[in-house]
Amino acid sequence: MSAARKILVTSALPYANGSIHLGHLVEYIQTDVWVRFQKMRGHQCIYCCADDTHGAPIMLRAEREGITPEQLIDRVWHEHKRDFDGFHVAFDNYYSTNTPETRHYADLIYTRLREAGLIDVRSVEQFFDPDKQMFLPDRFVKGECPKCHAKDQYGDNCEACGAAYQPTELINPYSAVSGATPVRKHSDHYFFRLSDPRCADFLKEWITPPQVQAEASNKLGEWLSGGLSDWDISRDSPYFGFEIPDAPGKFYYVWLDAPVGYMGSFKHYCDRSGVNFDAFWKPGSDAELYHFIGKDILYFHALFWPAELHHAGFRTPTSVFCHGFLTVNGSKMSKSRGTFITAESYLKHLNPEYLRYYYAAKLNGTLEDIDLNLEDFSARVNSDLVGKYVNIASRCAGFISKRFSGQLGPIDNAATADFQSAFSEGVIAQSYESRDFARALREIMRLADAANLYIAEKKPWEMAKQEGREAELHTVCSTALTLFRDLTLYLKPVLPILAAEVESFLNIAPLNWSEDWAPLPAGHNIREYQHLMARIDPKQIAALVEENTQNLAPASEASPTRHAEHQQHAIQPIAETIGIDDFGKIDLRIARIVTAGPVEGADKLLHLELDIGEEKPRQVFAGIKAAYAPETLVGRLTVMVANLAPRKMKFGMSEGMVLAASDERGGPFLLAPDSGAQPGMRIK
Ligand code: 2FM
Ligand code: ZN
Repeated sequence: MSAARKILVTSALPYANGSIHLGHLVEYIQTDVWVRFQKMRGHQCIYCCADDTHGAPIMLRAEREGITPEQLIDRVWHEHKRDFDGFHVAFDNYYSTNTPETRHYADLIYTRLREAGLIDVRSVEQFFDPDKQMFLPDRFVKGECPKCHAKDQYGDNCEACGAAYQPTELINPYSAVSGATPVRKHSDHYFFRLSDPRCADFLKEWITPPQVQAEASNKLGEWLSGGLSDWDISRDSPYFGFEIPDAPGKFYYVWLDAPVGYMGSFKHYCDRSGVNFDAFWKPGSDAELYHFIGKDILYFHALFWPAELHHAGFRTPTSVFCHGFLTVNGSKMSKSRGTFITAESYLKHLNPEYLRYYYAAKLNGTLEDIDLNLEDFSARVNSDLVGKYVNIASRCAGFISKRFSGQLGPIDNAATADFQSAFSEGVIAQSYESRDFARALREIMRLADAANLYIAEKKPWEMAKQEGREAELHTVCSTALTLFRDLTLYLKPVLPILAAEVESFLNIAPLNWSEDWAPLPAGHNIREYQHLMARIDPKQIAALVEENTQNLAPASEASPTRHAEHQQHAIQPIAETIGIDDFGKIDLRIARIVTAGPVEGADKLLHLELDIGEEKPRQVFAGIKAAYAPETLVGRLTVMVANLAPRKMKFGMSEGMVLAASDERGGPFLLAPDSGAQPGMRIK
């Protein structure tokens, strides 16, 4: 083992105005696995994070809820902490940016940059809400897209055509805060002069591997050669944040104080633990500093942040570790499909270590997106963790307890040789180190297969029935448990809770990576085996998806409040008036989707079987394939027209119709009844 390293690790600070969801967790789980691995190697590895608490959206949300921003961020901090604890993300410090430490370093950095001539003041024209008397953040101005004329688009880019523009280019703009028509107004803003040649010269050197991954380096090179713009670091009052020391009424914009939150959180940790802050942050420090981030904030962490640190007299990151985004069942997480899954709801249905394992099995240290395919997720967890890993202990432990009073016997050295060399050659450790967790887990599962093969060949259950084979049985089971111990060591960064249970069952000290390999010794006593991990039942996944589908809260989709009078999309004219008798002719029923699947030769259709309380389910072909993955529909309640004349289609008879909403803003969105409704109930 080389000498202990000093390592400070961060994950991006989540905004304090929303819940933690499975997309966020890719990063926190990735970082936590890496940190746990470093700690197991005997290094000093400190993991700091915080809530990112400043900004107009947080101020406005608190106002809407009738509380102070401080009350809002305090509540959200507890929710975030609960969720991270739930997934066993073990920060050494989880703090907030609204703290004296973060203010201190934000002021220090700002002052030093100003002294270095890297701060400029310039007049900027922005939209101003005359009712609310405030400048509007881009996301709080809405209007018609100047390119494709889609209505109701945000001020920074169009969700219909993807165009990016300035809020002032929107046609018929309106304030999403008050609904008022905004006016253009000038105000002085503070800028960090990223365009200064000193920044470009420094960054040209900085953006090369190993500071950033090769793919990221190419992207950063393109940005750099296109010329960097100065970065607006101030916002006008009213704002929730830190006022700039020499500029009354001006506040640091989130991006100036958010990464400074890394320092603030670490400083708070140092003050409690006695670690020396400067030893980690002074230029030339021998400590390592790593930021785990998503690729959406690469520009910021690999250009703006190092340039800022360098010119303010601090060390720069050793590396920025960038990862891709999460898709669920192959698409962007979607509230209508029930795949926008919050951490809190996941934890109600499933063991967090399942997700830690699945993410780790997909993460390979690159910027590639990773997909959580819910079917593959169950299959993989059930096969690898339950079928291969836990199975080793469950097949052998009972014999040790019952036949040998819990005491281990000698080891079959030939069977452990492969495991010993895996340990000494360090393929698994190198894979963890380079964040190629997928490779580490492939290697671990290869060893698990070897251990299972050993047990299958030796057949301890037969030995147990045959007289005179006691010693053999004892050796085989003891050997298998040593192999199981090794697998547990390797899996421990990913499955810390399961590993702790195994340590207790095997009656051993906490496993770490810093000692030489040795088998469990003969004569060692283990405890009674308790079942370690249950299989995922498809019903748990269905319940999770259902819960997230039913929790659809349209207002939470976007942070600004939308005002009805300003929803300017083209509403289709309301149809001709009908009498109640006409309506009564339509027999609408609550239907449970019993099965859902693709239709061969039809790209848009799904084949659904609907239970409306009749003897046999009805078969319906619905044009909703683009919006719903079939497996997410099974078990859901929806609404069907039950007395529509059956229609013969190429694929078979369609015996009704499901109801869904759509227009140019999206869809189809299936209807869902309130809880309590039962299949077959009439809707009237
Ligand atoms: O993108 C975000 O979620 C920001 N809150 C991340 C900040 S990372 C760091 F700079 F604080
Ligand atoms: Zn557009």
